[in-house]
Amino acid sequence: MFPAMRILTGLQPSGKLHVGNYFGAMEPAVRLQEKGEAFYFIANYHAMNTVKNPAELRGYTREVAIDFLACGLDPEHAVFFLQSAVPEVNELAWILSTVCPVSQLEKAHSYKDKIAHGFSPSHGLFAYPVLMAADILLYDSNQVPVGKDQKQHLEITRDLAGKINEAYGEGTLVVPEPIIRESAAVVPGLDGQKMSKSYGNTLPLFADPAEVKKIIMKKLVTDATPLEDPKPKENSTLLALYRLMASDADVATMEADFDRGGIGYGDFKKRLLEAYLERFEPMRARREELLTDPGYVDEVLAKGAEKARAAAAPVIDRVRRAVGLA
Ligand code: ADP
Ligand code: TRP
Repeated sequence: MFPAMRILTGLQPSGKLHVGNYFGAMEPAVRLQEKGEAFYFIANYHAMNTVKNPAELRGYTREVAIDFLACGLDPEHAVFFLQSAVPEVNELAWILSTVCPVSQLEKAHSYKDKIAHGFSPSHGLFAYPVLMAADILLYDSNQVPVGKDQKQHLEITRDLAGKINEAYGEGTLVVPEPIIRESAAVVPGLDGQKMSKSYGNTLPLFADPAEVKKIIMKKLVTDATPLEDPKPKENSTLLALYRLMASDADVATMEADFDRGGIGYGDFKKRLLEAYLERFEPMRARREELLTDPGYVDEVLAKGAEKARAAAAPVIDRVRRAVGLA
């Protein structure tokens, strides 16, 4: 009755994507699209909590769609759609909210974090994990790849599915398995902290090469080791970023040059820039192509929405019957 393996994940359209998003979210999603029936969506309802300007929300949504396709999301392999194209998700969120204890949401780290960072505590922000649970459960998802920061949201999802099954009958909802990317190291930002748009320390995924050059040369923090001395490899943000982008042989060369000394950080930064350009150039070219063909992107999202609605229909129907709405 259920599909063999449905993999689902969502990405919020809340700003320009950076290299951390790529290695932490998009690249793993692209790799997984071959492994099962992949459902990838742009979480535009969620983004409303932080993006309050309609033109901006529309713009970011469009950009993330284009960027994801440029990164290798293959619409032949993955169902790619906007969260808002399947409004039934709100109905399921409502149903889940009737079994969700307030105390569980009060303990959510991401909510507490946002409040601590000055966000006003809206109901949307508070109920975020319930909508996220609905995102997952609406498609009978089996596996949900996410970053460590989403672990608690997945626990809430499993818990809510369990509560519904207990109250209304086993099999009403599929309880999903999280795939937490524990091993995927956090990509460091230009200042060595976690790369995040909230910290203003990002290396953009798609930007003009001249701008990337300026960012790497001027903003990437290095220590004050003199040119002739060996450079410390531990905690080197430059080296950590290079390891993500360069070939094994080039990484080995840079590590040896760090140990030997006699080469300045300016040189190493140039190598990082080259590796960045080489790694992302094909995607940048693909992105330019997509920008000139908006009809194609619309069509991909329309087809994705149709498939997503078709997958959601039997689930919402099953739930409505189980709870007594139908
Ligand atoms: P940001 O921290 O810039 O606001 P988001 O929280 O919107 O980024 O993250 C979107 C996705 O990218 C999530 O799956 C998250 O785990 C991943 N991600 C974000 N920053 C990093 C990073 N520095 N390293 C690894 N993955 C990251
Ligand atoms: N909360 C996730 C994030 O901020 C995005 C997201 C929304 C999501 N709904 C989801 C991820 C469902 C996985 C499954 O990164």
